[in-house]
Amino acid sequence: MFDIQKIRSDFPLLQRTVYGKKLIYLDNAATTQKPQVVINRLQQYYTQENTNIHRGAHFLANEATEAYENGRERVRKFINAQHKHEILFTRGTTESINLIAHSFVQRFVNEGDEVLISAMEHHSNIVPWQLACEIKHATIKVIPMNQNGELLLDQLPHLLTDKTRIVAVTAISNALGTVNPLKKIIQIAHEHHIPVLVDGAQSVPHARTNVQDLDCDFFCFSGHKMYAPMGIGVVYGKEALLNELPPYQGGGEMVKHVTFAKTTYNELPFKFEAGTPNVEGVLGLHSAIDYLEDIGFENIEKQETDLFQYAFQKFQQRNDVRLIGTAAHHAGVISFLMNDIHPYDTGTILDHLGVAVRTGHHCAQPIMDFYEIPGTVRASFSFYNTKEEIDQLFVALDRVRQMFG
Ligand code: ALA
Repeated sequence: MFDIQKIRSDFPLLQRTVYGKKLIYLDNAATTQKPQVVINRLQQYYTQENTNIHRGAHFLANEATEAYENGRERVRKFINAQHKHEILFTRGTTESINLIAHSFVQRFVNEGDEVLISAMEHHSNIVPWQLACEIKHATIKVIPMNQNGELLLDQLPHLLTDKTRIVAVTAISNALGTVNPLKKIIQIAHEHHIPVLVDGAQSVPHARTNVQDLDCDFFCFSGHKMYAPMGIGVVYGKEALLNELPPYQGGGEMVKHVTFAKTTYNELPFKFEAGTPNVEGVLGLHSAIDYLEDIGFENIEKQETDLFQYAFQKFQQRNDVRLIGTAAHHAGVISFLMNDIHPYDTGTILDHLGVAVRTGHHCAQPIMDFYEIPGTVRASFSFYNTKEEIDQLFVALDRVRQMFG
């Protein structure tokens, strides 16, 4: 039973006002609000459990280590990874992709080799590959897309050459809302014996993730976009590949034995978790997963699909907006421009009317270059949004149009 009033009351921030108006939060692709259970978990950690982990000589250290490792097991189960040690904790999707890009390119990419990404990646799935490839004199190639914002997959087999070492692609575009056919991409890449990294930052909160079913080789996501705290992220990697990769960062915990002459490294997952980890982030992530599973992904998907279809149809009926990203398979992210009004102006007026949307290039400048636009206005939905809020968005858009004549 999906009780929207109960769900909204779980999120303290949704109750507040801005500029004296009821807040309508439609910036969920940037970050989601946190339910009280997640906030409570952080408070409990800092009032009852706070200590450093894995170095335990006392009760608290053992307790916190267990809670942290339980969090890893919870994530394993959540995304259906085969092994707990295939789950690595990071600061977020950006650090997750940097970790894999750095270590994978160091180990497997040589001069003249190629890394294949897509035309709809955001900067976090472009720049880490550029940084790593520059050192090895390797090349980035790009799967193109059409005007709807759909990848041209018929070109994929030709783009995969004997020099391609990895494919890195987003599950859902944060700027366009396109849902990519991951299984197909992974299957084609694997036919060429090429591993695939999936940027799952935008997909994990909205649909059930099953990394074994997808058969992806790496899967990266953030806690804060799925109702967990900021500063916690995940890399899933297949055991055999992770074992081949060199560490990303050096420090405590990722080592077995250190001398000034030579250091040997710890086993998975600790090889990739140098220094004191984000313990409260993992505990908060654990609570957020429990919260989402309690609601149920069937309910989440249904509510978000209803909201998206309701909003998208209303947008399509207007002759004063241009939709950017009209892929047939589309998630709850709608990017648009109003007449010739600059997106920042639209966003500022919406903000003053209590409607929080994002404006700009959404850290995806190549997408804006493709459409030859400075940026977009982006509304992105969560299961805690309502049709009434979407109606209010359209009332506010009418106001924008009136103000700009
Ligand atoms: N990647 C985040 C967004 O799309 C920050 O807003």
